[in-house]
Amino acid sequence: MKSYVILISVVAALGGLLFGFDTAVISGTINFIQPYFGLSEAGLGWTVSSLLFGCIAGVMLAGKAGDHYGRKKVLMLAALLFFISAVGSATAHSLIFFLVARILGGLAVGVASILSPMYIAELAPAKYRGTLVSLNQLAIVIGILVAFFSNYLLVGTGENNWRWMLLVMAAPAILLFFSLFLVPESPRWLAARNRNDEALKVLLKTSGKESALAELKEIGETLTVHEESKFSDLLTPKIKPLLFIGIILAVFQQITGINTIMYYAPKIFANVGQSNDSALLQTILIGGTNLVFTLVAMVLIDRFGRKLLIIIGSMGMTLMLAGLSVLFFTNQTSGVLVLVFILGYIAFFAASLGPAVWVVAAELFPNRLRSKGMSIAIVSLWIACAIVTIAFPIMLERLSGGITFLIFSLICLANLLYVLKYVPETKGKTLEELEKEFAKK
Ligand code: BGC
Repeated sequence: MKSYVILISVVAALGGLLFGFDTAVISGTINFIQPYFGLSEAGLGWTVSSLLFGCIAGVMLAGKAGDHYGRKKVLMLAALLFFISAVGSATAHSLIFFLVARILGGLAVGVASILSPMYIAELAPAKYRGTLVSLNQLAIVIGILVAFFSNYLLVGTGENNWRWMLLVMAAPAILLFFSLFLVPESPRWLAARNRNDEALKVLLKTSGKESALAELKEIGETLTVHEESKFSDLLTPKIKPLLFIGIILAVFQQITGINTIMYYAPKIFANVGQSNDSALLQTILIGGTNLVFTLVAMVLIDRFGRKLLIIIGSMGMTLMLAGLSVLFFTNQTSGVLVLVFILGYIAFFAASLGPAVWVVAAELFPNRLRSKGMSIAIVSLWIACAIVTIAFPIMLERLSGGITFLIFSLICLANLLYVLKYVPETKGKTLEELEKEFAKK
């Protein structure tokens, strides 16, 4: 694989790192911002989820702006927004100011969440596309881990500790902004704007002499309509089924419950009577498992395909959550088995739905409609994320752990059945070959 392509993917994946960091950093600040801003429990819930509302708006913005201004420029805008959000939230003296800063950060997360994987998918050679797009998921996971660690290291820095925790994000934001000057615009976007010479230059560097011309020709063939696409184009009979697959997969990625663990693990452990001191150890175990199994997925995804990974992953997730549910029903939650099932669940997610859903969402749509199609799918992902995040503590309290995890287990099973029947395999083919294949169906 060309080192140039790897460099480009790593730069774009910095967007994923910021996405992971920004969504996770808040967990370490909660105990300090709650008294500082005088927040009730509900107020805290809204403050924490304010970012997610920004995300939803950011994805919509990226869908349109990514087509109009190009993937690279809009990613630069996201880097600036990450920076402003870091400095703004770290220096906030009023709740309103803090919320605005967090929402701006959310806008950036939303933009990065679609443009980073999409940009990589549009630059990657077909053979390695799965691995390279999964690099973005790896970066998300690393971003989450870095946030947990940096929060831990900064917690002892006095009454302004939460400000430092939030300010840390300014560094990778600056890095992303400047490193984007090193990478080219997406050749598929350039071709869609009739800038074929520039597109060819990029393809020569990413795919090599032999395939560049052929690839450009192939891209040109898929771009018969040259005016800018509209969201309503997604509802044509050929595209609508793809849109449904994108939305349903994205929603399943969230409603199978991953962020009940990622955002609430300490609460679950406290709920089963485990002490707070082990919180850091558990966080490291969860983050480490997530990281290791994302690497496993990166090795397997172009070899075995996206579909097989999701099928095996969903089976494992179903079983792990069923096990967890049984432990709650039978009051056996004090032992080590709770941790075993939780880590098993994380491992199966990380090796399957975690990266694969982003990969497939970036591959499903034709060149002309990728930005808009992916944005609708990913908006659905963020809405589902917000709903689960808000509902989970209530479910745990009102329905008990046994029923809550049984419900999530059944959802994993439903995901398995859906993927078996409806999701196409996308490995190994160029985006244009996929486009032609889907157009025939
Ligand atoms: C999901 C995030 C989740 C993360 C955990 C991502 O693929 O979209 O919601 O927090 O994986 O690793």
